[in-house]
Parts: sequence; structure tokens; C-alpha cells
Amino acid sequence: MRTVELEDAEFIFTMRQDERKTKFLSKVSGTVESQKEWIANYKKRENQKKEFYFVIESKESQKLGLVRMYDFQNDSFCWGSWLIKEHAPKSTAIESALQIYEFGFYALGFEKSHFDVRKGNDKVIGFHQRFGAKIVNKNDVEYFFNFEKKDYEVTKEKYKRYL
Ligand SMILES: CC(C)(COP(=O)(O)OP(=O)(O)OC[C@H]1O[C@@H](n2cnc3c(N)ncnc32)[C@H](O)[C@@H]1OP(=O)(O)O)[C@@H](O)C(=O)NCCC(=O)NCCS
Repeated sequence: MRTVELEDAEFIFTMRQDERKTKFLSKVSGTVESQKEWIANYKKRENQKKEFYFVIESKESQKLGLVRMYDFQNDSFCWGSWLIKEHAPKSTAIESALQIYEFGFYALGFEKSHFDVRKGNDKVIGFHQRFGAKIVNKNDVEYFFNFEKKDYEVTKEKYKRYL
């Protein structure tokens, strides 16, 4: 995983236009140019360690997906904007989720993670539940999850072959 650069604008834009994949994500409008502007602003937040937006790549630097960490609160970070290309290797989802938690819990020092998943996005809800995350709240459109570092430590043992 590496942080996004201005040159990734087209990749991000194309990924966010894929209607089959973005049904449960917020709509990104505009152009490749406005995506570049967004990245330039994001890079300022990255410098201040307020947000991290990653391109998920294969070892051969083939772009496989995107994932973002944001809304850093006292002891908890949020992650989302998670999007993986069709036909990416099967382990891409597990590997990228593990990398997010490794970075959030150990490099950044958070104790918890929070994120929301839209109702109906059942595959993703199941993914997080298998990882050990818990639904702590809901509204009409989404479920709110929490995942604690101590629970991650159990999960990590189970998935250590992916690390
Ligand atoms: C969210 C997203 C990145 C997850 O990636 P994914 O590849 O669909 O993830 P999957 O749950 O299918 O997991 C990949 C594989 O690992 C397996 N797997 C996942 N969790 C596992 C676990 N805990 N233990 C064992 N295997 C597991 C899955 O079974 C799957 O293998 P399969 O294809 O043989 O069934 C992807 O679905 C996506 O881009 N979705 C659209 C955008 C979106 O909704 N983002 C989330 C917003 S909250």
C-alpha cells in the first residue's frame, strides 16, 4: 500500500465511476482535473497526518484498489472508501484490511477503529463481522461498527499468513 499521488487521479476517477462497485459509496462527481485538485488538498492533510489515502498495489506495482483512513478522533480512527478492482487476487481484501489495522493500531497508536457500512452491503458487513468488528449503532441507511485493538490481536493471529 502506498499513499496516492496526483498521477493517480485518473485511476481514482475511473474506479469511482464504476457503477457496479460504487452502489454503496458516496457519489464522486466532476472530472479527472477536479480529482487532482482533491488529491492536492488531501496531500496537505496527509502531511499533517490527519488522513491517509492508499493505492493498494501488487508487488509488481499493478494498481488493485483504494482505501482511506480519516476522521481521527482521540483513540479511534475511521476507515473506508474501500474499493477493489474486479479480478484482483482473492486475498487483496484481507491483506489490505490487515495493513490498515497494522498501520492504525501500531504505527499511529490508536486503540479503536470506527466505520460505517450501508445497509444492504451484506458482503462487506459479513467481512467486518468475520474480522471481529461489532455493530454498535444503526440508522435508516447504515450500520456503525467498532473494532478494538484487543480484538484485532486475536484476528491477527488467525490471519498471520497474510501478513
Ligand atoms: C469492499 C471490497 C473492497 C471488499 O473486497 P472483496 O474482494 O469483495 O472482499 P470479499 O469479502 O469477497 O473477500 C475476498 C475473498 O476473501 C475471502 N474472505 C473474506 N474474509 C474472509 C475471512 N475472514 N476468512 C476467510 N476468507 C475470507 C472471501 O470469501 C473472498 O473469497 P471468495 O471470493 O472465494 O468468496 C469490495 O467488495 C468492493 O470494492 N466493494 C465495492 C465498494 C464498497 O462497497 N466498499 C465498502 C464500503 S463500506
